[in-house]
Amino acid sequence: MSRRRRLLVTGSSGLVGSEMCSWFAAEGWEVHGLDNNQRAVFFGPAGDTRWNQARLEREVSGFVHHELDVRDRGGVLALVEELRPAAVVHTAAQPSHDRAASIPFEDFDTNAVGTLNLLEAARRSCPESPLVYLSTNKVYGDRPNTIRLKELETRWDYDDEAFAEGVPETFPIDDSTHSLFGASKVAADVMVQEYGRYFGMPTCCLRGGCLTGPNHAGVELHGFLSHLVRCSLERREYRVYGYKGKQVRDNLHCRDVARFAREFIESPRSGEVYNLGGGKANSCSVLEAFRLAEEATGVAQVSSYVEENRVGDHIVYYSDLSKMRRHYPAWDVSVSLRGIVSEIAEGWRIRLKL
Ligand SMILES: NC(=O)c1ccc[n+]([C@@H]2O[C@H](COP(=O)([O-])OP(=O)(O)OC[C@H]3O[C@@H](n4cnc5c(N)ncnc54)[C@H](O)[C@@H]3O)[C@@H](O)[C@H]2O)c1
Repeated sequence: MSRRRRLLVTGSSGLVGSEMCSWFAAEGWEVHGLDNNQRAVFFGPAGDTRWNQARLEREVSGFVHHELDVRDRGGVLALVEELRPAAVVHTAAQPSHDRAASIPFEDFDTNAVGTLNLLEAARRSCPESPLVYLSTNKVYGDRPNTIRLKELETRWDYDDEAFAEGVPETFPIDDSTHSLFGASKVAADVMVQEYGRYFGMPTCCLRGGCLTGPNHAGVELHGFLSHLVRCSLERREYRVYGYKGKQVRDNLHCRDVARFAREFIESPRSGEVYNLGGGKANSCSVLEAFRLAEEATGVAQVSSYVEENRVGDHIVYYSDLSKMRRHYPAWDVSVSLRGIVSEIAEGWRIRLKL
């Protein structure tokens, strides 16, 4: 029997999940992944993640894939009971707010009910094991758009000292439009907090900004930086939706997400919430991302502009990282924005054989 600590990662074939698997395995963990390639159902062939599953099975020593749907309550209860993992990282999700509107049942059943299935499975079989949930900054709905803004040459920015470092975890989540996706993630986020507060379980919600990396299968509806760099490399048009292309996002390499998960798992708290993004230093507008992509690919970006913004889309969002840094001083952003874009470009070059 293996004496390595056992980690269960849901959504293991996805961007964040696969990074967790590789990273924790390299740290000596025995890693079990749960995924059913639902991303291909959500997004079509461009969202297929089997290549990533195969990569993990090929490259990650001891990795075990479990073909399971998080909506399958009996299956999830049985798997967690069998594995009794020392920690759980939950990334399986329907991750797009645009997509959710056309598949509300699949979205809610996956994001909210799937999370409840996992939480209850953990409570029954491994209540002492830290559980890290990948939430999203969309839990704040479009309310960040009420922060006073100033228009700069290539971006919008906050024009309010209270948000000089970005959006903190104390920001309200009510009185705003979330998209159905944001609402299903709120349900899961609150449930993860509740299992921490009510049952005392070591849980946390990571309210992600744009999390990305070289293994991101970015598509138009999800994964903007990855999709944008791919368009640049393939000389394809990138469509900008509203806000003059000056909308701002903070970007974090998913290796830094894994590094944070490790910090939490080694020194857990109960029912915590963290805004997990690249922060102001790793933020860029779409226009600024074009220039960064051009630097990395050497190809001029082709784009078109659609006047109407996406429903609920943030104009400016970057995470205030103060609480994370305060609770876990050993953690900080380790990959710069330029570093991220260059790794994404290299990842696409390899996968597209360019
Ligand atoms: N990537 C980002 O920019 C970002 C930002 C904020 C929050 N998040 C959150 O992080 C998590 C992971 O995001 P990601 O970018 O890695 O997404 P992803 O789509 O790359 O990965 C999700 C994985 O979950 C799997 N999955 C989906 N539904 C499933 C189901 N019913 N049963 C089993 N597996 C299922 C998919 O097949 C996919 O492999 C999500 O919860 C997402 O909301 C991501």
